[in-house]
Amino acid sequence: MTDLSIEVNGMRFPNPFVLASGPPGTNGKVIKRSFELGWGGIVCKTISLENEKVHNCVPRYGKLRSREHEEVIGFQNIELISDRPFDLWLEELADCKAAYPDHMLIASIMEEYEKDRWVEITERTQATGVDAFELNLSCPHGLPERKMGAAMGQNPEIVEEVVSWVKSVSTVPVWAKMTPNITDITVPAKAAVAGGADGISAINTILAIIGINLDTLRPMPTVEGYSEPGGYSCQAVRPIALRQVMEIGRACPGVTLSGMGGVESAADAVQFMAVGAHTVQICTGAMLQGYEMISMLCDDLAAFLEGKNFERVADLVGVSLPYFTTHADLVARQLEAKREKAGQANRDEMWKGDIAKETDTLAAN
Ligand SMILES: Cc1cc2nc3c(=O)[nH]c(=O)nc-3n(C[C@H](O)[C@H](O)[C@H](O)COP(=O)(O)O)c2cc1C
Repeated sequence: MTDLSIEVNGMRFPNPFVLASGPPGTNGKVIKRSFELGWGGIVCKTISLENEKVHNCVPRYGKLRSREHEEVIGFQNIELISDRPFDLWLEELADCKAAYPDHMLIASIMEEYEKDRWVEITERTQATGVDAFELNLSCPHGLPERKMGAAMGQNPEIVEEVVSWVKSVSTVPVWAKMTPNITDITVPAKAAVAGGADGISAINTILAIIGINLDTLRPMPTVEGYSEPGGYSCQAVRPIALRQVMEIGRACPGVTLSGMGGVESAADAVQFMAVGAHTVQICTGAMLQGYEMISMLCDDLAAFLEGKNFERVADLVGVSLPYFTTHADLVARQLEAKREKAGQANRDEMWKGDIAKETDTLAAN
């Protein structure tokens, strides 16, 4: 069996597939189940110090289906961070880590814009033995009303400051999770690196409206007749996610990247690695296909690596990055290729002429 392990910030992932923060990591029981099934790592559902402030709505999901086969291609949620008590989370994280020491457990944390709060959540959470932190600076709905999530991630000064607060007390690696709802994702990514981030995760969901109910003309998902724009995920977002991960990969060379957005197969994951991701996270794909998809992901990735003669997963990271360039450079390359072709055609013509001459000479003799 091909070795799919990869070492990232001193952490050894048995394989590069990580369940992304969200419903797949909603409590200790499902986190353990994911490890049993073979996931390389998991980022738990985002936790905060005061769950009493988190009020979820029902319904909170919406789906976009393809016209022909009714396949789910886009998914929207207006789900908040975890509404479970912080102390319960601490118990469960410690329990999961003790039971599965070799699988990577990453704690997704979020707090209000106050140093003491970020320091407290970091110190108390790391006492459970988690392997790393992922800072949720990117949830696009609900939390920004409390100046959290994407409201922080869209402000590079705040990103740098918050990352540095966490880094001042963290003894484990810190990844900062970026929002795609920004003109240039490399600006907050560089700010996170300046604040000391060991890695960048991207992307969180894209702010969207999944649709309007044509019977009621109310937006969906409809809560008591009303809605709000929510976070869009699943395969429809993958091209945007790939672009943004590539941009971070080019802008922050040497920084660990965890890529996500619409990954549902090993082929999707390989593309994220090719543009610079060391690990690949999956949320909606696992919600739709189930945790068992991990065996298909590992088998297919191993087959891909063998087929392409890659010895290690790490060899794949960033292989496509050098081939992104500017439009002007594409035009210049095309012109050069045309010249080259014309030159070859001329050389071929001359060569044909030489052969004809030689044939005439031979015939004359
Ligand atoms: C229902 C749902 C809940 C989510 N909750 C969180 C969360 O608590 N924290 C977080 O950082 N990201 C959260 N996300 C975002 C995912 O981790 C991921 O960034 C995004 O969905 C793109 O990946 P995907 O297409 O594989 O789902 C959530 C996504 C969904 C669909």
